[in-house]
Amino acid sequence: MPTLLQTIAQARPLIAKARAGGATVGFVPTMGALHSGHAALMQSCRRECELAVASIFVNPTQFAPTEDLERYPRTLESDLEICRQAGVDLVFHPTPREMYPNGLASTFVETPAFSSILEGAVRPGHFRGVATVVLKLFAIIQPDVAYFGQKDFQQLVVIQRMVDDLRLPVEIRAHPTAREADGLALSSRNRYLNAHERSSAPALYQSLVRARAAVQAGLKNGDRVRQILRETLESTAGVVTEYAEVVDDRTLEPLDNLEGRSAIALVAARLGSTRLIDNLYLRE
Ligand code: PAF
Repeated sequence: MPTLLQTIAQARPLIAKARAGGATVGFVPTMGALHSGHAALMQSCRRECELAVASIFVNPTQFAPTEDLERYPRTLESDLEICRQAGVDLVFHPTPREMYPNGLASTFVETPAFSSILEGAVRPGHFRGVATVVLKLFAIIQPDVAYFGQKDFQQLVVIQRMVDDLRLPVEIRAHPTAREADGLALSSRNRYLNAHERSSAPALYQSLVRARAAVQAGLKNGDRVRQILRETLESTAGVVTEYAEVVDDRTLEPLDNLEGRSAIALVAARLGSTRLIDNLYLRE
């Protein structure tokens, strides 16, 4: 089993010792409820770094008041087993008090260019919570390399921008989205879907694949691509579209014309009480 660390005071000297011995420190931050997408991040971390550190912390500040903080799955035993199989050395699993000693409404980090659009428009305060906790985790673990999934694409953009703006000495490595055989992106929230919702859930990926095929066949008009995304989502029983966008992959600015742009499609939909998101590059 990996060494389980619950306090910053336990984690810092162990990591400092490895670093002093010349180890490259790799880090995979998670909220637990681990699946094979997380395992793939951890395996890369294991392969590419001498010390592989993961964190498991359900971060309260990234949940809006209406969201599922209490309901969020907590599966520490099986998470630790996944960390073990992936060869993780250390798992940092702090309490909320350890991470937020002065309460949740304390110092925070914000990336204004990205925090109130797309996911940020639906989930006010979410990216402030993500950026804040990731910065705290970076300050504690001081990784050389940190791994994130492309599935949470806007999160990746927010974190990369924070690292650039604050000149943090950490390299962000993104991993392709892990999927079920029918295309559904792996997510800790998939476990909330009932059988009917689960059978409709691949519509997100299907909408993206159709949009990509149209773009590869020459379509350049952004609104037409949005329409293709929406048509697929809205023709699937039980799927309520929240947004279906085509944006520049660096600025997240909506695109009217895809010509010469690195374009990514982003979709979010509700199935019953569960929100799912997905994305796919249309043009790189
Ligand atoms: O992607 C997640 O699981 C979380 O947003 C993260 C990056 C671990 C921050 O809590």
